[in-house]
Amino acid sequence: MFGQVDEGSAHLLMAQRGSEVLGWVFLEIGSMPLISHWAWFKRLMVLPSMQGQGLGRRLTVAAVDLGRDLGLEQLYLTCRSETGLADFYGRLGWLEVGRMPRNLRLADGSYRDEIYMVFEFLAPGISAPQLSTDADGGQPTGNVTLFEAK
Ligand SMILES: CC(C)(COP(=O)(O)OP(=O)(O)OC[C@H]1O[C@@H](n2cnc3c(N)ncnc32)[C@H](O)[C@@H]1OP(=O)(O)O)[C@@H](O)C(=O)NCCC(=O)NCCS
Repeated sequence: MFGQVDEGSAHLLMAQRGSEVLGWVFLEIGSMPLISHWAWFKRLMVLPSMQGQGLGRRLTVAAVDLGRDLGLEQLYLTCRSETGLADFYGRLGWLEVGRMPRNLRLADGSYRDEIYMVFEFLAPGISAPQLSTDADGGQPTGNVTLFEAK
Protein backbone atom coordinates (compact mmCIF):
# COMPACT_ATOMS: atom_id res chain seq x y z
CA MET A 1 0.00 0.00 0.00
CA PHE A 2 2.82 2.43 0.77
CA GLY A 3 4.09 1.98 -2.78
CA GLN A 4 0.68 2.95 -4.10
CA VAL A 5 0.70 6.01 -1.87
CA ASP A 6 4.07 6.95 -3.36
CA GLU A 7 2.70 6.38 -6.85
CA GLY A 8 -0.36 8.53 -6.10
CA SER A 9 -3.03 5.81 -6.52
CA ALA A 10 -3.72 5.61 -2.78
CA HIS A 11 -4.10 8.08 0.04
CA LEU A 12 -2.92 7.53 3.59
CA LEU A 13 -4.57 9.16 6.57
CA MET A 14 -2.61 9.02 9.77
CA ALA A 15 -3.38 10.05 13.30
CA GLN A 16 -0.33 11.12 15.19
CA ARG A 17 0.72 12.72 18.40
CA GLY A 18 4.03 14.42 17.90
CA SER A 19 6.18 11.92 16.04
CA GLU A 20 4.20 8.90 17.23
CA VAL A 21 1.84 7.31 14.72
CA LEU A 22 -1.34 6.19 16.51
CA GLY A 23 -3.48 4.93 13.68
CA TRP A 24 -4.03 4.97 9.95
CA VAL A 25 -6.27 4.07 7.07
CA PHE A 26 -5.79 3.95 3.31
CA LEU A 27 -8.04 4.91 0.42
CA GLU A 28 -7.11 2.97 -2.71
CA ILE A 29 -8.61 4.52 -5.83
CA GLY A 30 -9.47 2.46 -8.89
CA SER A 31 -6.70 2.61 -11.45
CA MET A 32 -8.87 2.18 -14.57
CA PRO A 33 -11.52 4.65 -15.78
CA LEU A 34 -14.16 1.95 -15.29
CA ILE A 35 -13.60 1.94 -11.53
CA SER A 36 -12.02 5.31 -10.86
CA HIS A 37 -15.20 6.77 -9.33
CA TRP A 38 -14.80 4.82 -6.10
CA ALA A 39 -12.10 3.71 -3.64
CA TRP A 40 -11.38 0.87 -1.27
CA PHE A 41 -11.20 1.90 2.38
CA LYS A 42 -8.45 -0.40 3.65
CA ARG A 43 -6.55 -1.43 6.74
CA LEU A 44 -8.06 0.87 9.33
CA MET A 45 -5.91 0.33 12.41
CA VAL A 46 -5.47 2.03 15.77
CA LEU A 47 -2.65 1.13 18.15
CA PRO A 48 -4.04 -1.25 20.79
CA SER A 49 -3.01 1.14 23.57
CA MET A 50 -5.04 3.92 21.91
CA GLN A 51 -8.19 2.01 21.06
CA GLY A 52 -11.53 3.00 22.54
CA GLN A 53 -10.78 6.73 22.51
CA GLY A 54 -12.51 7.70 19.30
CA LEU A 55 -9.56 7.54 16.94
CA GLY A 56 -11.02 4.79 14.76
CA ARG A 57 -14.17 6.82 14.32
CA ARG A 58 -12.21 9.99 13.56
CA LEU A 59 -10.04 8.23 10.98
CA THR A 60 -13.11 6.72 9.32
CA VAL A 61 -14.89 10.07 9.21
CA ALA A 62 -11.75 11.78 7.90
CA ALA A 63 -11.44 9.17 5.15
CA VAL A 64 -15.07 9.71 4.17
CA ASP A 65 -14.48 13.47 4.10
CA LEU A 66 -11.41 12.92 1.92
CA GLY A 67 -13.35 10.68 -0.45
CA ARG A 68 -15.99 13.36 -0.80
CA ASP A 69 -13.35 16.04 -1.38
CA LEU A 70 -11.76 13.87 -4.07
CA GLY A 71 -15.09 13.75 -5.87
CA LEU A 72 -15.57 10.01 -5.42
CA GLU A 73 -19.04 8.51 -5.62
CA GLN A 74 -18.57 5.56 -3.29
CA LEU A 75 -16.20 3.99 -0.81
CA TYR A 76 -16.13 0.24 -0.23
CA LEU A 77 -14.70 -1.86 2.57
CA THR A 78 -14.74 -5.43 3.74
CA CYS A 79 -14.81 -6.57 7.33
CA ARG A 80 -15.08 -9.82 9.22
CA SER A 81 -18.38 -11.00 10.67
CA GLU A 82 -18.88 -11.57 14.40
CA THR A 83 -16.50 -8.77 15.36
CA GLY A 84 -18.97 -5.93 15.76
CA LEU A 85 -17.19 -4.05 12.99
CA ALA A 86 -20.22 -3.94 10.69
CA ASP A 87 -22.10 -2.17 13.49
CA PHE A 88 -19.16 0.20 14.03
CA TYR A 89 -19.20 1.19 10.35
CA GLY A 90 -22.99 1.14 10.17
CA ARG A 91 -23.17 3.81 12.87
CA LEU A 92 -20.97 5.95 10.64
CA GLY A 93 -23.25 5.72 7.61
CA TRP A 94 -21.91 2.63 5.85
CA LEU A 95 -24.37 0.11 4.43
CA GLU A 96 -23.88 -3.63 4.17
CA VAL A 97 -24.35 -4.68 0.55
CA GLY A 98 -23.42 -8.33 0.73
CA ARG A 99 -21.32 -10.99 2.28
CA MET A 100 -19.27 -14.01 1.25
CA PRO A 101 -20.35 -16.76 3.60
CA ARG A 102 -17.64 -18.71 5.45
CA ASN A 103 -15.05 -16.91 3.39
CA LEU A 104 -12.51 -16.77 6.20
CA ARG A 105 -11.31 -19.90 8.03
CA LEU A 106 -9.64 -19.12 11.35
CA ALA A 107 -6.84 -21.05 13.03
CA ASP A 108 -9.33 -22.81 15.32
CA GLY A 109 -11.23 -24.13 12.31
CA SER A 110 -14.21 -21.79 12.71
CA TYR A 111 -15.44 -19.64 9.84
CA ARG A 112 -16.36 -16.00 9.41
CA ASP A 113 -18.22 -14.22 6.62
CA GLU A 114 -16.52 -11.45 4.67
CA ILE A 115 -18.93 -8.50 4.80
CA TYR A 116 -18.97 -5.90 2.01
CA MET A 117 -20.03 -2.36 2.95
CA VAL A 118 -20.42 0.84 0.95
CA PHE A 119 -20.49 4.52 1.77
CA GLU A 120 -22.56 6.24 -0.91
CA PHE A 121 -22.03 9.92 -1.69
CA LEU A 122 -24.33 10.26 -4.66
CA ALA A 123 -26.71 7.35 -5.11
CA PRO A 124 -30.29 8.55 -5.51
CA GLY A 125 -32.59 7.29 -2.83
CA ILE A 126 -29.82 6.47 -0.39
CA SER A 127 -29.10 9.13 2.17
CA ALA A 128 -25.96 8.55 4.14
CA PRO A 129 -25.22 10.99 6.96
CA GLN A 130 -23.07 13.93 6.04
CA LEU A 131 -20.23 13.49 8.44
CA SER A 132 -17.29 15.71 9.07
CA THR A 133 -14.32 15.38 11.36
CA ASP A 134 -15.25 18.59 13.11
CA ALA A 135 -18.81 17.52 13.74
CA ASP A 136 -18.39 13.87 14.64
CA GLY A 137 -18.67 14.51 18.36
CA GLY A 138 -15.64 12.38 19.16
CA GLN A 139 -13.96 12.66 22.51
CA PRO A 140 -10.94 14.97 22.68
CA THR A 141 -7.77 13.01 22.14
CA GLY A 142 -5.09 15.46 23.24
CA ASN A 143 -2.98 16.88 20.48
CA VAL A 144 -3.70 14.10 18.04
CA THR A 145 -3.67 15.44 14.52
CA LEU A 146 -5.14 14.01 11.39
CA PHE A 147 -3.46 14.64 8.12
CA GLU A 148 -3.18 13.25 4.66
CA ALA A 149 0.20 12.03 3.50
CA LYS A 150 0.16 11.33 -0.21
C1 LIG B 1 -11.60 -1.17 14.69
C2 LIG B 1 -10.69 -0.12 15.32
C3 LIG B 1 -9.97 0.63 14.22
C4 LIG B 1 -11.57 0.86 16.11
O1 LIG B 1 -10.76 1.90 16.60
P1 LIG B 1 -11.01 2.58 18.01
O2 LIG B 1 -10.19 3.80 18.06
O3 LIG B 1 -10.84 1.62 19.11
O4 LIG B 1 -12.57 2.92 17.88
P2 LIG B 1 -13.32 4.14 18.53
O5 LIG B 1 -12.74 4.42 19.88
O6 LIG B 1 -13.38 5.25 17.56
O7 LIG B 1 -14.77 3.51 18.69
C5 LIG B 1 -15.91 4.18 18.28
C6 LIG B 1 -17.08 3.34 18.66
O8 LIG B 1 -17.06 2.05 18.02
C7 LIG B 1 -17.01 1.02 19.01
N1 LIG B 1 -16.09 0.01 18.50
C8 LIG B 1 -14.78 0.13 18.33
N2 LIG B 1 -14.27 -1.00 17.83
C9 LIG B 1 -15.30 -1.83 17.68
C10 LIG B 1 -15.43 -3.16 17.24
N3 LIG B 1 -14.38 -3.89 16.83
N4 LIG B 1 -16.65 -3.71 17.22
C11 LIG B 1 -17.73 -2.99 17.64
N5 LIG B 1 -17.67 -1.75 18.08
C12 LIG B 1 -16.46 -1.18 18.10
C13 LIG B 1 -16.56 1.68 20.27
O9 LIG B 1 -17.06 0.98 21.39
C14 LIG B 1 -17.16 3.06 20.14
O10 LIG B 1 -18.51 3.02 20.48
P3 LIG B 1 -19.20 4.31 21.16
O11 LIG B 1 -19.19 5.38 20.11
O12 LIG B 1 -20.56 3.81 21.48
O13 LIG B 1 -18.36 4.65 22.33
C15 LIG B 1 -9.65 -0.74 16.30
O14 LIG B 1 -10.34 -1.52 17.24
C16 LIG B 1 -8.61 -1.60 15.62
O15 LIG B 1 -7.55 -1.09 15.17
N6 LIG B 1 -8.85 -2.90 15.53
C17 LIG B 1 -7.90 -3.83 14.92
C18 LIG B 1 -7.87 -3.70 13.40
C19 LIG B 1 -9.23 -3.84 12.78
O16 LIG B 1 -10.02 -4.72 13.11
N7 LIG B 1 -9.50 -2.93 11.81
C20 LIG B 1 -10.74 -2.94 11.05
C21 LIG B 1 -10.51 -3.56 9.72
S1 LIG B 1 -12.06 -3.66 8.79
